[in-house]
Amino acid sequence: MKNIVIKNLMVAGLLTIPATMWAYTLESPGKIVSLEADVKDGIPVYSISYKNKPVIKSSSLGVKLVEVPDLTDGFEVVGTQASSFDETWTPVWGENDSIRNHYNEMVLELRQPSTDRKMNIRFRVYDDGVGFRYEWPQQRGLDYFVIDDEMTEFAMTGDHTAWWIAGDYDTQEYNYTESRLSEIRDKMSSAIDGNASQTPFSPTGVQTSLQMKTDDGLYINIHEAALVDYSCMHLNLNDTTLVFRSWLTPDAQGHKGHIQSPAHSPWRTVMVSDDARDILASNLILNLNEPCVYEDVSWIKPVKYMGVWWEMIAGGKQWSYTYDLPSVRLDETDYTKVHPLGQHPANNENVKRYIDFAAENGFDQLLVEGWNVGWEDWFGKSKDYVFDFVTPYPDFDIEMLNNYAKSKGIKLMMHHETSSSVRNYERHMHQAYDLMDKYGYNAVKSGYVGNIIPRGEHHYGQWMNNHYLYAVKEAAKHKIMVNAHEAVRPTGLCRTYPNLIGNESARGTEYEANAGINPGHTTILPFTRLQGGPMDYTPGIFEMNISTFNPNNPAKVNSTLARQLGLYVTMYSPLQMAADLPENYARYMDAFQFIKDVPVDWQKSIYLEAEPGRYIVAARKDKNSNDWFVGCTANEDGHTSTISLGFLDKGKDYEAVIYADAKDAHFRNNPQAYSIVRKKVNSKSKLRLTAAPGGGYAISIKPVNL
Ligand code: NOJ
Ligand code: CA
Repeated sequence: MKNIVIKNLMVAGLLTIPATMWAYTLESPGKIVSLEADVKDGIPVYSISYKNKPVIKSSSLGVKLVEVPDLTDGFEVVGTQASSFDETWTPVWGENDSIRNHYNEMVLELRQPSTDRKMNIRFRVYDDGVGFRYEWPQQRGLDYFVIDDEMTEFAMTGDHTAWWIAGDYDTQEYNYTESRLSEIRDKMSSAIDGNASQTPFSPTGVQTSLQMKTDDGLYINIHEAALVDYSCMHLNLNDTTLVFRSWLTPDAQGHKGHIQSPAHSPWRTVMVSDDARDILASNLILNLNEPCVYEDVSWIKPVKYMGVWWEMIAGGKQWSYTYDLPSVRLDETDYTKVHPLGQHPANNENVKRYIDFAAENGFDQLLVEGWNVGWEDWFGKSKDYVFDFVTPYPDFDIEMLNNYAKSKGIKLMMHHETSSSVRNYERHMHQAYDLMDKYGYNAVKSGYVGNIIPRGEHHYGQWMNNHYLYAVKEAAKHKIMVNAHEAVRPTGLCRTYPNLIGNESARGTEYEANAGINPGHTTILPFTRLQGGPMDYTPGIFEMNISTFNPNNPAKVNSTLARQLGLYVTMYSPLQMAADLPENYARYMDAFQFIKDVPVDWQKSIYLEAEPGRYIVAARKDKNSNDWFVGCTANEDGHTSTISLGFLDKGKDYEAVIYADAKDAHFRNNPQAYSIVRKKVNSKSKLRLTAAPGGGYAISIKPVNL
């Protein structure tokens, strides 16, 4: 066994898998995680262990190329570099107001003698996991190349339990399935549940971030970080050997990446801990991203908002002005003639009603969807109008409404549904952002519903990934924040571009109004989708029985009301919506108080209890005060917690307001039964709280006499 010392870092021989000899071993700063790497028979390989337990067995690395020899084998190690890094940085917004980035790093410099080409593999080892990436230095013979597929393997040590969604190039909006790895194939068709945008590429293909648990209690998570100019990675399982292999999203020609050196892949990440709470608290993905590129970030501000939205999603009303009357011209000025039923909620009168309610209750912004011409074309009902993102419908007076909002101390939030006609969006983007500047909008929710145009491209391919980032960078030139729906799953890019204030990229509350969301969904998302960045989950539904306001929709929301409050704490996001209708909030103003109080930016976050698929309890301290907020979300079995308030300042008195499920609450038949209890607490207090089936709770804790 070679023991080598490079720079200040000991790269020591592996002690725990004596049967295997590894040339290079790199331990994490606290010696908790260990990475082994080598080139065996010309193939680069690695393995990972945690507190001496294997996590990833020997797994090969490499990339297959189109038309030229692959970068998968025939390698030799020509050099290594190692270093340590320890820095604390300040995010513009986040779960914590400072983040430590502490790792040991090793670069394996490889050469393929038969082609004289070079490739490096850079590993970073943290106490909570590992990141590694391929690097292609600029060189003759590798200036420009096309990836056929990436051959990165992740060899599992057993038939773990996994929380997974089907591999799919165009949607992430699935319920999760909990199963053994060996059961993925059998469960694939029920996991798709009629929701696939296309047939999955493989009966054992899944998306990242993938959360797993071993039989001896290790939590393992595989994802990627800093997905830039590359296609998004899926994982394809060999369910005989239990080895995952990366599977990149193809382009219209079936190719998986166009690379010009010098270049590198995104980081492949493996997080690991024996405590589920550490997976939620991990900053590994953010840390693997580059620091913020903007000098001035004063314009980037967390946002609490309401929306003219649920009326369409659940209420059955229309985005389009001329819906089902395609013959009616938009120059019709009499709105009542065009829409005798008043089915277009983005009209002056209704928007003013929302502005009044949002402003009275302290919100920052109001989203208005369906404000602009183009929805007719999308529905194929008219060829007269396309989205240009600047032309309001006749019943939406953009100037008057923005001024009205301003006079009440709030802003309107822009909406750009691109209908995935991406070239059309790029053509109009600059005038669209100019219009936002003109009227004072500083945030846009964008959307990518439908098949991508140009046809054949996919939502998660390299071309689209470049588009999403282009939209964010161009928006920054206008000091605009972006919240993109249906875009590729986040990979921590919000560290580098913090005006990427939110994303959807998973099944969100909109599904409660149609196909449904499993009660345990929100106990999984923070382990998976939220690893890469915040989600615009749009919580805050108080009326679970949709037929109350839309007789044509029998859908019921699979959650109690108290749990909807808890989500403002468990689902971290600097952009949070109160998604329900003002009239539904008006009936429960005592519970609505929590949504009014809860901040959207934090000094400190602590995960008190967590188990994927079961429950999550989080506590967070407001960034701008000494107030604390606690939230819980539970699956269909409910959950009883005993939480200690040891995180409060010692010797201080606080008042806790506890919003909890009533004893007889149940997401299915009694979701609106809640209680609100006030209690004096301090750092020695313990609270025993019960979340109903599909329930949760929320607590605000404020210092007394301050
Ligand atoms: C899907 C988005 O997720 C939803 O929020 C939006 O209302 C519709 N697209 C229309 O843009
Ligand atoms: Ca969506």
